[in-house]
Amino acid sequence: MKKKTINKKTIIDVQNISKHYVMGPMVTKALKGISFKIYKGEFVGIMGPSGSGKSTTLHQLGLLDIPTSGRIFIDGVEVTTLSDIERSYFRLNKLGYVFQQYRNIPELTALENVYLPLRMMGKPRYYYLNEAKTLLEKVGLKDRMHHHPFELSGGEQQRVALARALAHKPDILFADEPTANLDTEAGEVILNLLKHFNEDYGQTIVMVSHDLEQIKYFDRIIRIKDGLLER
Ligand SMILES: Nc1ncnc2c1ncn2[C@@H]1O[C@H](COP(=O)(O)OP(=O)(O)O)[C@@H](O)[C@H]1O
Ligand SMILES: [Mg+2]
Repeated sequence: MKKKTINKKTIIDVQNISKHYVMGPMVTKALKGISFKIYKGEFVGIMGPSGSGKSTTLHQLGLLDIPTSGRIFIDGVEVTTLSDIERSYFRLNKLGYVFQQYRNIPELTALENVYLPLRMMGKPRYYYLNEAKTLLEKVGLKDRMHHHPFELSGGEQQRVALARALAHKPDILFADEPTANLDTEAGEVILNLLKHFNEDYGQTIVMVSHDLEQIKYFDRIIRIKDGLLER
């Protein structure tokens, strides 16, 4: 097996972030001040029991939400102070996401789902078609490109979602329990693909999991409990 070297170039620097959800008189302190770094080329697992703040953490790192306090730097940019438009732009260009739900567009084929973001970015047709086909081949769906989501299994739909998330070559891929809706075998296919993109293409991946079986895939684990890091 190829030995991976991580050169400790910080790509995400999380400085004492908290997140409080306010619903009327109810305040949930989902994150209570956590700090950590993620290095370029790492495959990091964010683990902890249900309700411990894993998804909340991922949402803050992925610029899908703004922390109540604290600062986050991605690639040296203080993303916690960006305007809405700057944040969207940063997300679209630099970040990719895979969720538990596959979130493919039902009316589009696998190929169309994968090239849609590239097409929306204004890339030329030959480029987005080629990129999408190459990625679908890499995730093992060469023969399923023209199928619609309803003609695909859950595992295949998640592979389409993964290809779409990687199409614009994001600096960081975020995944929130991407195997939670899959059987063990289909889940392993996804994890092995993530590992492949990490090891062979240097894709930085931050993935939430509560499945202890998945520990073996990660370079490092950030453990969260009750909104705090666990040593
Ligand atoms: N949008 C929200 N509004 C209010 N409370 C929330 C919201 N999202 C999460 N929470 C609460 O924050 C805590 C952490 O949730 P979450 O980060 O989703 O946990 P995990 O992903 O580890 O299961 C939980 O108590 C949850 O109920
Ligand atoms: Mg969660």
